[in-house]
Amino acid sequence: MKALLLAGGLGTRLRPLTENLPKPMALIGNRPWLEHLILHLKSEGIADFVIAVKHYPEMIRDYLGDGTSLGVRIQYAVEETLLGTAGAIKNAQEFLDDRFLVVNADIVHQVAIQPLLDFHLEHGGAVTIGLTEVKDPSQYGVVEQDPFGQIVRFVEKPSKEEAPSNRINAGIYVMEKTVLEWIPKGEEVSIERETFPLLIEKGMRVYGKVIDGYWLDMGTKERYRKVHWDLLERKFRLPLGGKEEENGIWIGENTKIGSGVLFVPPVLIGNRVKIGDRSVIGPYAVIGDHCEIGQNVRCSETIMWNRCRVHNATQLKNCIFGYDLELGSKHILYEAVMNRWAGGLQG
Ligand code: GTP
Repeated sequence: MKALLLAGGLGTRLRPLTENLPKPMALIGNRPWLEHLILHLKSEGIADFVIAVKHYPEMIRDYLGDGTSLGVRIQYAVEETLLGTAGAIKNAQEFLDDRFLVVNADIVHQVAIQPLLDFHLEHGGAVTIGLTEVKDPSQYGVVEQDPFGQIVRFVEKPSKEEAPSNRINAGIYVMEKTVLEWIPKGEEVSIERETFPLLIEKGMRVYGKVIDGYWLDMGTKERYRKVHWDLLERKFRLPLGGKEEENGIWIGENTKIGSGVLFVPPVLIGNRVKIGDRSVIGPYAVIGDHCEIGQNVRCSETIMWNRCRVHNATQLKNCIFGYDLELGSKHILYEAVMNRWAGGLQG
Protein backbone atom coordinates (compact mmCIF):
# COMPACT_ATOMS: atom_id res chain seq x y z
CA MET A 1 0.00 0.00 0.00
CA LYS A 2 1.24 3.50 -0.86
CA ALA A 3 1.23 6.26 1.73
CA LEU A 4 0.31 9.81 0.78
CA LEU A 5 1.94 12.26 3.19
CA LEU A 6 0.31 15.70 3.41
CA ALA A 7 3.16 18.14 3.84
CA GLY A 8 2.13 21.29 2.01
CA GLY A 9 0.45 23.46 4.65
CA LEU A 10 1.80 26.86 5.66
CA GLY A 11 2.26 25.90 9.30
CA THR A 12 1.16 29.35 10.42
CA ARG A 13 0.89 28.38 14.08
CA LEU A 14 4.52 27.33 14.17
CA ARG A 15 5.85 30.57 12.70
CA PRO A 16 8.47 31.91 12.63
CA LEU A 17 10.08 28.45 12.40
CA THR A 18 7.90 27.60 9.41
CA GLU A 19 8.29 30.98 7.71
CA ASN A 20 10.75 29.39 5.29
CA LEU A 21 10.31 25.70 6.06
CA PRO A 22 7.56 23.09 5.57
CA LYS A 23 6.31 22.19 9.06
CA PRO A 24 7.01 18.45 8.67
CA MET A 25 10.70 19.35 8.10
CA ALA A 26 10.95 20.85 11.59
CA LEU A 27 13.57 18.93 13.55
CA ILE A 28 12.46 16.46 16.18
CA GLY A 29 15.43 15.19 18.16
CA ASN A 30 17.83 16.80 15.64
CA ARG A 31 16.34 15.16 12.53
CA PRO A 32 13.48 16.38 10.26
CA TRP A 33 10.23 14.80 11.45
CA LEU A 34 9.38 13.78 7.87
CA GLU A 35 12.43 11.52 7.81
CA HIS A 36 11.45 9.88 11.11
CA LEU A 37 7.93 9.44 9.77
CA ILE A 38 9.05 7.74 6.57
CA LEU A 39 11.36 5.43 8.52
CA HIS A 40 8.53 4.55 10.90
CA LEU A 41 6.12 3.79 8.05
CA LYS A 42 8.86 1.78 6.33
CA SER A 43 9.17 -0.31 9.49
CA GLU A 44 5.39 -0.84 9.18
CA GLY A 45 5.91 -2.32 5.71
CA ILE A 46 5.34 0.72 3.48
CA ALA A 47 7.90 1.25 0.73
CA ASP A 48 6.09 3.65 -1.63
CA PHE A 49 5.34 7.24 -0.76
CA VAL A 50 3.73 10.22 -2.41
CA ILE A 51 4.41 13.54 -0.69
CA ALA A 52 1.89 16.33 -1.34
CA VAL A 53 3.91 19.55 -1.27
CA LYS A 54 3.25 23.26 -1.68
CA HIS A 55 5.09 25.42 0.91
CA TYR A 56 8.86 25.33 0.13
CA PRO A 57 8.60 22.04 -1.81
CA GLU A 58 12.27 22.17 -2.88
CA MET A 59 13.37 21.77 0.75
CA ILE A 60 11.63 18.42 0.96
CA ARG A 61 12.81 17.30 -2.48
CA ASP A 62 16.41 18.33 -1.87
CA TYR A 63 16.50 16.48 1.42
CA LEU A 64 14.62 13.27 0.59
CA GLY A 65 15.04 13.03 -3.19
CA ASP A 66 13.53 9.87 -4.67
CA GLY A 67 13.85 8.10 -1.30
CA THR A 68 16.83 5.90 -2.25
CA SER A 69 18.89 7.04 0.75
CA LEU A 70 16.10 5.85 3.07
CA GLY A 71 15.46 2.65 1.11
CA VAL A 72 11.99 3.69 -0.12
CA ARG A 73 10.46 5.20 -3.28
CA ILE A 74 9.14 8.76 -3.13
CA GLN A 75 7.08 10.66 -5.69
CA TYR A 76 5.90 14.25 -5.34
CA ALA A 77 2.51 15.79 -6.05
CA VAL A 78 3.10 19.51 -6.29
CA GLU A 79 0.34 22.10 -5.83
CA GLU A 80 0.34 25.41 -7.65
CA THR A 81 -2.03 26.92 -5.09
CA LEU A 82 -2.89 25.84 -1.57
CA LEU A 83 -5.59 23.20 -1.97
CA GLY A 84 -6.27 22.20 1.64
CA THR A 85 -6.09 18.68 2.97
CA ALA A 86 -8.71 17.18 0.61
CA GLY A 87 -7.64 19.23 -2.43
CA ALA A 88 -4.09 17.96 -1.91
CA ILE A 89 -5.32 14.35 -1.99
CA LYS A 90 -7.29 15.02 -5.17
CA ASN A 91 -4.21 16.65 -6.71
CA ALA A 92 -2.21 13.47 -6.05
CA GLN A 93 -4.85 11.28 -7.77
CA GLU A 94 -2.63 10.11 -10.65
CA PHE A 95 -0.08 8.66 -8.20
CA LEU A 96 -2.59 6.69 -6.11
CA ASP A 97 -3.87 3.08 -6.28
CA ASP A 98 -7.40 1.92 -5.47
CA ARG A 99 -6.68 1.91 -1.74
CA PHE A 100 -4.05 3.99 0.05
CA LEU A 101 -2.96 5.45 3.36
CA VAL A 102 -3.12 9.21 4.02
CA VAL A 103 -1.05 10.71 6.82
CA ASN A 104 -0.84 14.32 8.03
CA ALA A 105 2.92 14.72 8.04
CA ASP A 106 2.91 17.06 11.04
CA ILE A 107 1.59 14.51 13.50
CA VAL A 108 4.21 12.92 15.69
CA HIS A 109 3.17 9.33 16.22
CA GLN A 110 4.24 5.74 16.00
CA VAL A 111 1.01 4.17 14.93
CA ALA A 112 0.79 0.49 13.94
CA ILE A 113 -0.70 0.54 10.45
CA GLN A 114 -1.71 -3.10 10.02
CA PRO A 115 -4.54 -3.07 12.62
CA LEU A 116 -6.00 0.01 10.91
CA LEU A 117 -5.83 -1.69 7.52
CA ASP A 118 -7.30 -4.95 8.89
CA PHE A 119 -10.20 -3.01 10.41
CA HIS A 120 -10.76 -1.19 7.11
CA LEU A 121 -10.83 -4.44 5.10
CA GLU A 122 -13.11 -6.14 7.62
CA HIS A 123 -15.67 -3.31 7.64
CA GLY A 124 -15.49 -2.36 3.99
CA GLY A 125 -16.01 1.39 4.42
CA ALA A 126 -14.96 4.15 2.05
CA VAL A 127 -12.59 5.49 4.69
CA THR A 128 -11.32 4.35 8.05
CA ILE A 129 -10.15 7.24 10.19
CA GLY A 130 -7.53 6.59 12.84
CA LEU A 131 -8.85 8.09 16.09
CA THR A 132 -6.98 9.14 19.16
CA GLU A 133 -8.46 9.67 22.61
CA VAL A 134 -7.78 12.98 24.34
CA LYS A 135 -8.53 14.15 27.89
CA ASP A 136 -10.15 17.41 26.84
CA PRO A 137 -11.84 17.23 23.43
CA SER A 138 -13.07 20.84 23.47
CA GLN A 139 -10.29 22.04 21.15
CA TYR A 140 -10.94 19.40 18.50
CA GLY A 141 -13.45 17.86 16.11
CA VAL A 142 -14.94 14.93 18.02
CA VAL A 143 -16.60 11.87 16.46
CA GLU A 144 -19.81 10.14 17.38
CA GLN A 145 -19.86 6.46 16.40
CA ASP A 146 -22.38 3.63 16.32
CA PRO A 147 -21.55 0.38 18.17
CA PHE A 148 -19.80 -0.98 15.05
CA GLY A 149 -17.42 1.95 14.78
CA GLN A 150 -19.23 3.73 11.94
CA ILE A 151 -19.04 7.49 12.33
CA VAL A 152 -22.48 9.11 12.44
CA ARG A 153 -21.34 12.70 12.90
CA PHE A 154 -18.51 15.06 13.71
CA VAL A 155 -18.92 17.68 16.41
CA GLU A 156 -16.52 20.63 16.14
CA LYS A 157 -15.05 21.89 19.41
CA PRO A 158 -17.81 20.74 21.78
CA SER A 159 -17.79 21.74 25.44
CA LYS A 160 -16.51 18.94 27.67
CA GLU A 161 -20.07 18.15 28.81
CA GLU A 162 -21.57 18.09 25.31
CA ALA A 163 -18.82 16.03 23.66
CA PRO A 164 -20.28 12.72 22.39
CA SER A 165 -16.89 11.05 22.97
CA ASN A 166 -13.26 11.95 23.61
CA ARG A 167 -12.20 10.51 20.26
CA ILE A 168 -10.71 12.82 17.67
CA ASN A 169 -9.43 12.48 14.12
CA ALA A 170 -5.75 11.50 14.38
CA GLY A 171 -4.92 12.58 10.81
CA ILE A 172 -4.24 9.03 9.60
CA TYR A 173 -6.67 7.40 7.15
CA VAL A 174 -7.05 4.28 5.03
CA MET A 175 -8.98 5.47 2.00
CA GLU A 176 -10.62 4.00 -1.10
CA LYS A 177 -9.97 5.94 -4.28
CA THR A 178 -13.73 6.31 -4.87
CA VAL A 179 -13.63 9.04 -2.19
CA LEU A 180 -11.83 11.30 -4.66
CA GLU A 181 -15.04 11.51 -6.75
CA TRP A 182 -16.44 13.69 -3.96
CA ILE A 183 -13.60 16.21 -4.01
CA PRO A 184 -13.75 18.97 -6.64
CA LYS A 185 -10.57 19.39 -8.67
CA GLY A 186 -8.37 22.45 -8.21
CA GLU A 187 -10.38 23.88 -5.30
CA GLU A 188 -9.35 24.41 -1.72
CA VAL A 189 -11.18 21.73 0.29
CA SER A 190 -10.69 20.46 3.83
CA ILE A 191 -10.96 16.71 4.33
CA GLU A 192 -11.88 17.11 8.00
CA ARG A 193 -14.42 19.90 7.74
CA GLU A 194 -15.91 19.28 4.28
CA THR A 195 -15.23 15.90 2.68
CA PHE A 196 -15.79 13.56 5.64
CA PRO A 197 -19.11 15.19 6.68
CA LEU A 198 -20.20 15.14 3.01
CA LEU A 199 -19.43 11.43 2.68
CA ILE A 200 -21.55 10.70 5.76
CA GLU A 201 -24.38 12.88 4.43
CA LYS A 202 -24.28 10.99 1.13
CA GLY A 203 -24.54 7.65 2.94
CA MET A 204 -21.00 6.44 2.33
CA ARG A 205 -19.60 4.46 5.21
CA VAL A 206 -16.90 6.23 7.20
CA TYR A 207 -15.45 4.28 10.11
CA GLY A 208 -13.24 5.24 13.02
CA LYS A 209 -10.75 3.00 14.75
CA VAL A 210 -8.84 3.99 17.84
CA ILE A 211 -5.10 3.80 17.36
CA ASP A 212 -2.64 2.93 20.09
CA GLY A 213 0.58 4.55 21.08
CA TYR A 214 2.05 8.01 21.22
CA TRP A 215 0.30 10.74 19.24
CA LEU A 216 0.82 14.50 19.29
CA ASP A 217 0.14 17.17 16.71
CA MET A 218 3.29 19.32 16.70
CA GLY A 219 1.50 22.25 15.07
CA THR A 220 1.91 24.85 17.84
CA LYS A 221 5.01 26.04 19.65
CA GLU A 222 3.77 24.63 22.96
CA ARG A 223 3.18 21.21 21.44
CA TYR A 224 6.44 21.35 19.48
CA ARG A 225 8.24 21.76 22.81
CA LYS A 226 6.11 19.10 24.47
CA VAL A 227 7.01 16.55 21.78
CA HIS A 228 10.66 17.13 22.65
CA TRP A 229 10.20 16.83 26.38
CA ASP A 230 8.18 13.66 25.85
CA LEU A 231 10.95 12.33 23.63
CA LEU A 232 13.60 13.11 26.22
CA GLU A 233 11.47 11.44 28.90
CA ARG A 234 11.21 8.42 26.57
CA LYS A 235 7.42 8.56 26.44
CA PHE A 236 8.07 7.49 22.85
CA ARG A 237 11.23 6.38 21.14
CA LEU A 238 13.11 7.73 18.15
CA PRO A 239 16.72 7.11 17.27
CA LEU A 240 18.46 9.93 19.18
CA GLY A 241 21.95 9.63 17.72
CA GLY A 242 25.07 9.82 19.83
CA LYS A 243 25.40 7.88 23.05
CA GLU A 244 23.53 7.99 26.34
CA GLU A 245 26.50 8.94 28.55
CA GLU A 246 24.50 8.92 31.74
CA ASN A 247 20.84 8.45 32.46
CA GLY A 248 19.06 11.04 30.31
CA ILE A 249 22.22 12.65 28.86
CA TRP A 250 22.76 11.91 25.16
CA ILE A 251 25.96 13.25 23.65
CA GLY A 252 26.68 13.19 19.91
CA GLU A 253 29.94 12.35 18.17
CA ASN A 254 32.99 14.62 18.08
CA THR A 255 31.67 17.02 20.70
CA LYS A 256 34.07 19.22 22.69
CA ILE A 257 32.96 19.81 26.24
CA GLY A 258 34.82 22.42 28.32
CA SER A 259 35.81 22.04 31.97
CA GLY A 260 33.19 22.36 34.65
CA VAL A 261 30.26 21.96 32.23
CA LEU A 262 27.18 20.67 33.98
CA PHE A 263 24.51 18.68 32.15
CA VAL A 264 21.22 18.51 33.99
CA PRO A 265 19.17 15.68 32.45
CA PRO A 266 17.34 15.21 30.25
CA VAL A 267 19.61 16.64 27.58
CA LEU A 268 20.33 15.80 23.93
CA ILE A 269 23.50 17.18 22.37
CA GLY A 270 24.07 16.74 18.60
CA ASN A 271 27.27 15.92 16.72
CA ARG A 272 30.31 18.23 16.53
CA VAL A 273 28.96 20.56 19.22
CA LYS A 274 31.31 22.73 21.29
CA ILE A 275 30.39 23.80 24.81
CA GLY A 276 32.53 26.31 26.73
CA ASP A 277 33.71 26.05 30.33
CA ARG A 278 31.26 26.19 33.23
CA SER A 279 28.12 26.26 31.10
CA VAL A 280 25.01 24.61 32.50
CA ILE A 281 22.90 22.75 29.94
CA GLY A 282 19.47 21.41 30.87
CA PRO A 283 17.18 20.30 32.19
CA TYR A 284 15.34 19.85 28.91
CA ALA A 285 17.74 21.05 26.27
CA VAL A 286 18.16 19.84 22.69
CA ILE A 287 21.23 21.23 20.94
CA GLY A 288 21.58 20.63 17.18
CA ASP A 289 24.67 19.52 15.24
CA HIS A 290 27.59 21.95 14.88
CA CYS A 291 26.29 24.36 17.53
CA GLU A 292 28.83 26.38 19.50
CA ILE A 293 27.99 27.37 23.05
CA GLY A 294 30.28 29.79 24.87
CA GLN A 295 31.40 29.84 28.48
CA ASN A 296 29.06 30.32 31.46
CA VAL A 297 25.98 29.90 29.30
CA ARG A 298 22.79 28.62 30.92
CA CYS A 299 20.38 26.82 28.65
CA SER A 300 17.25 25.04 29.83
CA GLU A 301 13.90 24.02 28.31
CA THR A 302 15.33 25.09 24.97
CA ILE A 303 15.58 23.59 21.49
CA MET A 304 18.29 24.80 19.15
CA TRP A 305 18.69 23.65 15.54
CA ASN A 306 21.98 23.07 13.76
CA ARG A 307 24.84 25.56 13.58
CA CYS A 308 23.65 28.06 16.19
CA ARG A 309 26.25 30.05 18.12
CA VAL A 310 25.65 31.33 21.63
CA HIS A 311 28.25 33.68 23.10
CA ASN A 312 29.48 33.74 26.67
CA ALA A 313 27.24 34.18 29.72
CA THR A 314 23.96 34.20 27.85
CA GLN A 315 20.91 32.69 29.53
CA LEU A 316 18.22 30.85 27.57
CA LYS A 317 15.02 29.45 28.97
CA ASN A 318 12.04 27.99 27.16
CA CYS A 319 13.32 29.11 23.73
CA ILE A 320 13.28 27.61 20.24
CA PHE A 321 15.94 28.63 17.73
CA GLY A 322 15.97 27.72 14.04
CA TYR A 323 19.10 27.07 11.98
CA ASP A 324 22.23 29.26 11.97
CA LEU A 325 21.34 31.80 14.64
CA GLU A 326 23.94 33.78 16.51
CA LEU A 327 23.18 35.10 19.98
CA GLY A 328 25.44 37.70 21.59
CA SER A 329 26.97 37.51 25.04
CA LYS A 330 25.19 38.28 28.32
CA HIS A 331 21.75 38.15 26.73
CA ILE A 332 18.83 36.86 28.75
CA LEU A 333 16.13 35.25 26.59
CA TYR A 334 12.95 33.71 27.93
CA GLU A 335 10.39 32.10 25.62
CA ALA A 336 12.08 33.45 22.49
CA VAL A 337 11.25 31.75 19.20
CA MET A 338 13.61 32.83 16.42
CA ASN A 339 14.38 31.92 12.84
CA ARG A 340 16.82 33.16 10.24
CA TRP A 341 15.78 33.76 6.70
CA ALA A 342 18.58 31.95 4.87
CA GLY A 343 18.67 28.72 6.92
CA GLY A 344 19.75 25.52 5.17
CA LEU A 345 19.00 21.93 6.04
CA GLN A 346 22.18 19.93 5.91
CA GLY A 347 24.10 19.47 9.16
P1 GTP B 1 -1.51 25.89 10.34
O1 GTP B 1 -1.38 26.96 9.29
O2 GTP B 1 -0.72 26.20 11.57
O3 GTP B 1 -2.93 25.49 10.62
O4 GTP B 1 -0.80 24.57 9.76
P2 GTP B 1 -1.06 23.74 8.42
O5 GTP B 1 -2.18 24.25 7.61
O6 GTP B 1 0.27 23.56 7.76
O7 GTP B 1 -1.36 22.33 9.04
P3 GTP B 1 -2.73 21.60 9.39
O8 GTP B 1 -2.55 21.05 10.76
O9 GTP B 1 -3.88 22.47 9.16
O10 GTP B 1 -2.71 20.46 8.31
C1 GTP B 1 -2.46 19.10 8.59
C2 GTP B 1 -1.44 18.53 7.61
O11 GTP B 1 -1.90 18.74 6.27
C3 GTP B 1 -0.07 19.19 7.69
O12 GTP B 1 0.93 18.21 7.59
C4 GTP B 1 -0.04 20.13 6.52
O13 GTP B 1 1.28 20.27 5.98
C5 GTP B 1 -0.95 19.46 5.52
N1 GTP B 1 -1.68 20.43 4.72
C6 GTP B 1 -2.54 21.40 5.14
N2 GTP B 1 -2.98 22.11 4.10
C7 GTP B 1 -2.41 21.59 3.00
C8 GTP B 1 -2.48 21.90 1.61
O14 GTP B 1 -3.15 22.84 1.17
N3 GTP B 1 -1.72 21.14 0.77
C9 GTP B 1 -0.94 20.12 1.21
N4 GTP B 1 -0.24 19.43 0.32
N5 GTP B 1 -0.86 19.80 2.51
C10 GTP B 1 -1.58 20.52 3.39
